[in-house]
Amino acid sequence: MSTPVTVAPCDFVVFGGTGDLAMRKLLPALYLRDRDGQLPDAFRVIAVSRAGMDEAGYRDKVESELRQHVPAGELSAESTRGFLGRLHYVSADADGGGDWHRLRDLLADTADRVRVCYLAVAPKLFGPISTTLAENGLVTERTRVVLEKPIGADLASARHVNDQVAAVFDESQIYRIDHYLGKETVQNLLVMRFANMLLEPLWNSSTVDHVQITVAETIGAGQRAEYYDGSGALRDMVQNHLLQMLCLVAMEPPTRIENDGVRDEKLKVLEALAPVGPADVVRAQYTAGLVDGRAVPGYGDELDAPSNTETYVALKAEVHNWRWRNVPFYLRTGKRLDRRASEIVVVFKRVPHSIWPGVEADMTPNRLVIRLQPDEGVRMHMLAKEPGPGGIRLKPVSLDLAFAEQFEGRTPEAYERLLMDVVRGNPTLFMRRDEVEAAWSWTEPVLRRWEAAGDRPKQYAAGTAGPSAATTLIERDGRTWHEEMRA
Ligand code: BG6
Repeated sequence: MSTPVTVAPCDFVVFGGTGDLAMRKLLPALYLRDRDGQLPDAFRVIAVSRAGMDEAGYRDKVESELRQHVPAGELSAESTRGFLGRLHYVSADADGGGDWHRLRDLLADTADRVRVCYLAVAPKLFGPISTTLAENGLVTERTRVVLEKPIGADLASARHVNDQVAAVFDESQIYRIDHYLGKETVQNLLVMRFANMLLEPLWNSSTVDHVQITVAETIGAGQRAEYYDGSGALRDMVQNHLLQMLCLVAMEPPTRIENDGVRDEKLKVLEALAPVGPADVVRAQYTAGLVDGRAVPGYGDELDAPSNTETYVALKAEVHNWRWRNVPFYLRTGKRLDRRASEIVVVFKRVPHSIWPGVEADMTPNRLVIRLQPDEGVRMHMLAKEPGPGGIRLKPVSLDLAFAEQFEGRTPEAYERLLMDVVRGNPTLFMRRDEVEAAWSWTEPVLRRWEAAGDRPKQYAAGTAGPSAATTLIERDGRTWHEEMRA
């Protein structure tokens, strides 16, 4: 891997700096960018939280968290020491209580630097923190604010949060993060589609039969149960990650990658999404089962209370425009499934006619499988003649591109790319306000219908492939889920 270009001097202020996201994702990502030489000397990380720690205590905590969350081979004593030297800690709360004066002192002489305020906190604090930053005179022209999802829990609350933040920051200063957009393979989707001539002429309803997008996880709600129970799989995963992937698959070629090119095209896809009918969604919740040979409790037992929240969703979406008319997009995501695997599968139509009488049944349609995780890669399923005499036998084979084999070096974490994009001021891989609100406009009627009907989720045992109703959802259309990821 070539040495990355150093970013501009920056004060990177993390609100929620002692929280789970900061420890598991943000600080490891910044450490790795530092270790790889991308951070200039004038790059500080200032953690803000209510934990009331001192700076030495915070550095000790970060050191031990890095050991847990950065792969052992990537940690060195020297780069850890260097990174810890960049850290500062301020104990303060969203409403202006605590040591805001210390934050002001720390930032007093650096108004000319890029200033990133990363809000790794609950969305109800996005507005108050923005206001307090402004009241303390800390919002400069070069300040950017990063909002973690979820942005609201429905359209009205998303608008409310967006309005509150917009009272302080211009839209061009607001970076709404969806970490799926930072995943290498998701970015590769853009390169595959728009840097190659091969696919684009086929990328439409005359050749594509349907598309599948799957994000399967083995983890449960775990430590985040309180947040998760108020959210559920539709809000937590579909409204953002799965819809963003759908947009990148379905959008028209943007004129340029910069500025709003990609975001304008994604918005058009979101606006073309047809409402989802009740028969086209399955929601379910896991019961006790075995995951990786380990007995795990059901969702209600983990929570210690019965709950109506879904941990699995499968649905059929339709994009009503010229390119995708009659091409369903089947989406599914769930927790506590039999494995962790995420992929986008584009299933092409069957050939219109078999020139080999009698082998029609073997005419398996071509599939393009874009694997996000684990083992990132792209695989094109084709038919080939099985070698040997005795007539023709067609055999599905695959053209494989495994990124780990093709490219040297490790695959960076999504957050590494996205955090550096904020510092660089590149908004392409972040969600604009209108995108977030369009995604809620499409999601909300489904949520409201569930609420109105007092809908109980179906059940699936932890460690299985999900509820049988999800299989029925696609099979009733004469199609099947692509199950290669279970191979
Ligand atoms: C988060 C969700 O946005 O994405 C989590 O809130 C989920 O519930 C996670 O586990 C999945 O991300 P990844 O990168 O592990 O696929």
